[in-house]
Amino acid sequence: MRTAPVIPVLVVEDAATARPLAEALVAGGLRVLEVTLRTAAALDVIREMKTVEGAIVGAGTVVREDQFAQAVDAGAEFIVSPGLTQRLGDVIVESGVPYLPGVANAGDIMRGMELGLNRFKFFPAEAAGGLKALKALAAPFYEARFCPTGGITQATAPEWLAFDPVLCVGGSWITGGSMEEVTERAKAAVRLGA
Ligand code: 3PG
Repeated sequence: MRTAPVIPVLVVEDAATARPLAEALVAGGLRVLEVTLRTAAALDVIREMKTVEGAIVGAGTVVREDQFAQAVDAGAEFIVSPGLTQRLGDVIVESGVPYLPGVANAGDIMRGMELGLNRFKFFPAEAAGGLKALKALAAPFYEARFCPTGGITQATAPEWLAFDPVLCVGGSWITGGSMEEVTERAKAAVRLGA
């Protein structure tokens, strides 16, 4: 979460585009890559991106135990979920693989803390009440740190990142267009941390 101010959330349909995309992101300074398990190609995308020097590749949208196992088999170095269930949480925490589950309310955070977690994805960040909601939620959970994701853009990221408990934000805005454009957007995202 401290490697870069932004974790790009990637939805990649074609594994052939995975390596150039990861290279473009790493060239721009974004090394931590969240590959969502929302496409048939996702596991191959993880394998391909893992071959890119400097890339730290994880799986996102992990909602079931079998997906977790497949993602780890493919080489995922961290796991992101949109929410947190006891069942999936137990399995992933027990495995020792770094885990960033989604939370949207106090009960979610409490469930995570009972599992020994204190790093969370605040999701869906804008729809769940935006920065105002996160500030209210974070107040009682002073040990918790967050990666808000969902509806965040280059323009709105600074206000989120200015809030101390926010270590990074996630977003899909970095991708799209040419690989040169991806690298430029990645560089701009890195500058958010300056
Ligand atoms: C996610 O999967 O974390 C979100 O769908 C990404 O949200 P965004 O597309 O609004 O950045």
